Amino acid sequence: MSDLVRITDVSPRDGLQNEPGVIPTSDKVKLVELLCKTGVDEIEVTSFVSAKWVPQLGDGAEVLQRVHAWLHANWTKEELPGVPCLSMLVPNQQGMQAALRAHAGVSVEKIAVFAAASETFSQKNLNATIEESLERFRPVMEMARLACGQPIHVRAYISCVIACPFEGPISPEKVADVAARLIEIGADEIDLGDTIGVSTAENVSELLRVVTKRIGKEWLAKRSVGEYGLTLHLHDTFGRAAECVRAALDLGVRSFDGSVAGLGGCPYASKTLPDGTIQRAPGNIATELLVRTIHEAGYRTNVDLNALADAAAFAREIVAKSRAGAGS
Ligand code: HMG
Ligand code: MG
Repeated sequence: MSDLVRITDVSPRDGLQNEPGVIPTSDKVKLVELLCKTGVDEIEVTSFVSAKWVPQLGDGAEVLQRVHAWLHANWTKEELPGVPCLSMLVPNQQGMQAALRAHAGVSVEKIAVFAAASETFSQKNLNATIEESLERFRPVMEMARLACGQPIHVRAYISCVIACPFEGPISPEKVADVAARLIEIGADEIDLGDTIGVSTAENVSELLRVVTKRIGKEWLAKRSVGEYGLTLHLHDTFGRAAECVRAALDLGVRSFDGSVAGLGGCPYASKTLPDGTIQRAPGNIATELLVRTIHEAGYRTNVDLNALADAAAFAREIVAKSRAGAGS
């Protein structure tokens, strides 16, 4: 099995989506530009969800257009194949149409739909049952297959793969059921999301065993663009994400998500505590920590840690600025 590991940085999407203060579009564009120079394989640039649900990412179309204009102006034809895959979240047909419109003249390489293994979380995040959400994704996957030029690849997230903030522990079999359904309707990649960061090396290993037994071990081997397989998306609430990465590498996982500076969290995983305070959803594993952990375990990535540190410093700066502005 290859020792090359695929890295997706989700900071422009997961990292920023829950920030309360205004982050200027130009800062989001600059963050993506810096990430383009790091060697990560993929950048999740934004979401095409309702701006009423996630106001922070309401400028997704503009971000994408400006990133493409920057690439066109600054990268030579020879360099362009080295640009990371640029992907975005799409919850339904309306989002898919908006994503296609935003790309006018540039082909969309990949989108991500997002389901959950918890009914309560699915309702809170998508205003739909798990079954209804899968029915919404079906025509989106169809549109991806029928896209002009080459087909658009589809990542399918499953949230709450270890536990749900509202329902508690989730069984690996439930996650495997949702994964199998997503593959049946056309997903090219399954991304297992530990939304609230409660993984341990033991429970994540058990999850991976059950899921790969159901969907087939061949999903682990796929990792290059065009043959996506199984990805792990960890949030790092208790500082255990790195040990989960090591356990997943041992089991053959070769694709991980991170967010520079450890930013992130789903707004619909935040909880109101009995005293009325809001417990914000936890951040993703920092891409810096993710890459270091992978290298220290004897595997390779295409990532330049110095360039990644520059992107992380900028991400920290824009979030600090926006939090100061929002008074939080
Ligand atoms: P809904 O209210 O049920 O939608 O929301 P609707 O179809 O009834 O439409 C209501 C309004 O939304 C209409 O507008 C639609 O046009 C509009 P109005 O007539 O009221 O002006 N609308 C849209 N607008 C823009 N883009 C769209 C769109 N669709 C409908 N695509 C909906 C359903 C899915 C839209 C909503 O629930 C939503 O946007 N949810 C997104 C939530 C979200 O983004 N959560 C964070 C990402 S998931 C995550 O972070 C987890 C992950 O990181 C993995 C992990 O860690 O576990 C991926
Ligand atoms: Mg997430």
